[in-house]
Amino acid sequence: MTKPQKPQSNAMLKRAHENMPLGVADSYRYWGEENTVFLSSMKGCTITDCDQQTFVDFRLAYGPIILGYRDERVDNEVINAITSVGTISGFSTGLDSDVVELVKSLCPNIDKMRFANSGTEAVIGAVRTARGFTKRNKIVVVEGGFHGLHDEVMWKSDVDNWEVTDENAPEIIPFGAGIPQSTREHQVSVPLNDFKAIDTVFAEHGHDIAAILIEPIMGNCGSIASTQAYMQKLRDTCDTNGSLLIMDEVKTGFRVAKGGAQALYGIYADLTTYAKAMGNGYPIAAFGGKANVMDAISFAKDGVTHGGTYTANMVALSAAKATLTVLKETDALETIATVGQKIQALLSRVFTKFDIEHCFAGPNAMFGVHFGSEVPQNYRDWKKTNSDLYTQFALNLIDNGVMLEPDSREPWFICEAHQTVDLKWLEQVAEQSMSAAINAQ
Ligand SMILES: Cc1ncc(COP(=O)(O)O)c(C=O)c1O
Repeated sequence: MTKPQKPQSNAMLKRAHENMPLGVADSYRYWGEENTVFLSSMKGCTITDCDQQTFVDFRLAYGPIILGYRDERVDNEVINAITSVGTISGFSTGLDSDVVELVKSLCPNIDKMRFANSGTEAVIGAVRTARGFTKRNKIVVVEGGFHGLHDEVMWKSDVDNWEVTDENAPEIIPFGAGIPQSTREHQVSVPLNDFKAIDTVFAEHGHDIAAILIEPIMGNCGSIASTQAYMQKLRDTCDTNGSLLIMDEVKTGFRVAKGGAQALYGIYADLTTYAKAMGNGYPIAAFGGKANVMDAISFAKDGVTHGGTYTANMVALSAAKATLTVLKETDALETIATVGQKIQALLSRVFTKFDIEHCFAGPNAMFGVHFGSEVPQNYRDWKKTNSDLYTQFALNLIDNGVMLEPDSREPWFICEAHQTVDLKWLEQVAEQSMSAAINAQ
């Protein structure tokens, strides 16, 4: 298997090193001196790098692309809005309510909503609202969950440096320098699907727990999902203790079902965060929930403050309106689920051919691939899977024109435009990539 030469990309990185730390605008885009990707265009489910290699993309910018790149149904709405109305004014337009009403028609968990510009900001807003409403401080989070790049949630379980034979829990460490220890003070972490851990945490801190903050399906941890019983346990525990359940649906919202993960479970949060698929790649995010909780946002002396210069700008709102309308009125999500299911089936044929134990986690629109016999139930279980083999397999796929994150903690994202992918070709590439990965071991 030959590795494509990348003279243009390498030159672009050299130039970018003069301009940005690591030569990239977001640290996660740096894939080393030889593999950092620079694109020249995107369309449908494909991206083309500046060395003219085109990839079928299953990374999809970490999830926002739900219809396809440069989808005209969305782009035309945005062009129309900014040329006929404007971009931002620091005032409201009717478009704010248009989008909220669309979300409400899809998500019964939403009575009222506020907008944000990124998933990170939406989570900050939801957590602050939960604290303001409950007058409590502590937030319970789940090992392996990800809630954006703000100090308080930038603490992670160091499973990379933990052994499955360890009796102690993985150490909780900051994402890096610059995160004060004090930002951890109000956070407690539990393993997913561990009922006892929830009981213990609530027995100890229940009177001060404002909320449980959870990705129902961990989009940053191989799509490992909460069981139905565990989600019910969280709902009941919050109700019993006067705490709120915040579901972070930044990745799952408007992707795994029209009503997000909550529609799959039939269990609803008090507060929910959305972003990514909501705008097919335009920067829109939101948080919302029950009216009495959201109305904690007010100018009262003990009210919660929320806002921001770019909040609910016309670019974001028009993109959300167009995207949500397509998702609501067409069978795009059914198409996505069918394609995702077919891709898992073809991958399974390839893995079986090479006698590789494997399983898939999460829904068809956003599935994790794990080399192990049992679907992981939490982040610690993920450590039992053969993630090194996955990484080698993924790197070979990339060399052959299939883009994905070379880390099995990032799921395969499917968009509507993937229905055009030649699945026979994909199966062949997967077979070659796995064969080469095994030979390299
Ligand atoms: C579940 C979840 N929450 C929050 C975020 C943060 O979103 P953003 O990168 O838009 O700030 C992400 C990003 O991947 C996410 O997956």
